[in-house]
Amino acid sequence: MPSFPKPKIPDAVVPPPLRKPAKPGSGGTPRGQAPSDLKEAPERKTHGDKLLDQAKDAPIDALGWVDQRLAASGFLTGMLFRKVPKGTNWFYTLGSATLFAFIVQATTGVFLAMFYTPSATQAYSSIAHINNEVPLGQFVHGMHKWGSSVMVILIFLHMGRTFFFGAYKYPRELNWVIGVVLLILTMTMAFTGYLLPFDQRSFWASIVGININGTGPVVGPYLSDFLRAGPELGATTLSRFYAIHMLLVPGAIIALIGAHMYLVVKLGTTAPPWVKAQRPKVASPLAQLDAGGNSNGRVNGHRVDGAPVDGEGNGSL
Ligand code: HEM
Repeated sequence: MPSFPKPKIPDAVVPPPLRKPAKPGSGGTPRGQAPSDLKEAPERKTHGDKLLDQAKDAPIDALGWVDQRLAASGFLTGMLFRKVPKGTNWFYTLGSATLFAFIVQATTGVFLAMFYTPSATQAYSSIAHINNEVPLGQFVHGMHKWGSSVMVILIFLHMGRTFFFGAYKYPRELNWVIGVVLLILTMTMAFTGYLLPFDQRSFWASIVGININGTGPVVGPYLSDFLRAGPELGATTLSRFYAIHMLLVPGAIIALIGAHMYLVVKLGTTAPPWVKAQRPKVASPLAQLDAGGNSNGRVNGHRVDGAPVDGEGNGSL
């Protein structure tokens, strides 16, 4: 940016030198003069500098504009700075790790879908094309393939954590049920994805999987018929598995993860079982009601009416 010489400021526009204000109670006569360098032009910003400043502020301004309309910052602050119970440890990261594995699967899946052809005659060769010719294709395919096992392992570990910490109990039963559905959907993703390369291994493994489903009580035979999409495993099965893997289940998983996270934030997480809940100050909620209740109306981290305290880590139940 070329810098131009600063123009001389005419005397008329420069204000008379400021005098030091008088000390309070000293009669009001100002003593001494302010340094008379005020004629020196204060550093003026060039048009380029102003534009640069505006550009620096633009992201903040844009975020402010969006926030004024969404009022999201209050919610985000409440969510990110919510209290967590004492004793929270590394086991509590398993849910977020599962979420991360899902995001990796969704991202790598989008790139694979750009090159994959869901046809019985071309599926295998499109996967070979991804592995051998597409730049980073083998890497992305490998991430997706191994990532599916990682997600299945993590989801089981996370479920184990919530089970052994008693997090399925009141008031989190609904979140447990949502979790069970998420587990079934994750297994469905792994199962339907396995057929997509349409090689010998995936073909025969899917036949075994479909037959196992067929042995289920009552709905088993209907389920295996639905999955096979015809008398034999073939092109129609591949299309059906592709639609389930690409459209139906990911949409359901995203919606349910949203509900799962909402409940985690709303109800808070459960303290580990070895962390003792604080003793109530009075013997029982009823006694507390008789005594007029304490200042926050809570016993043992819960409101006396039994409702959980919003977003607060409130000890195991
Ligand atoms: C896509 C699958 C899943 C994702 C992304 C996910 C994510 C999370 C996250 C981030 C949390 C909060 C942090 C934590 O406690 O780890 C959480 C909590 C919880 N999850 Fe999951 N979860 C999934 C599957 C499951 C499954 C399969 C179950 C059980 C069947 C389950 C039951 C719960 C429960 C009960 C809580 C509350 C924990 C507490 O209060 O301490 N989740 N989940």
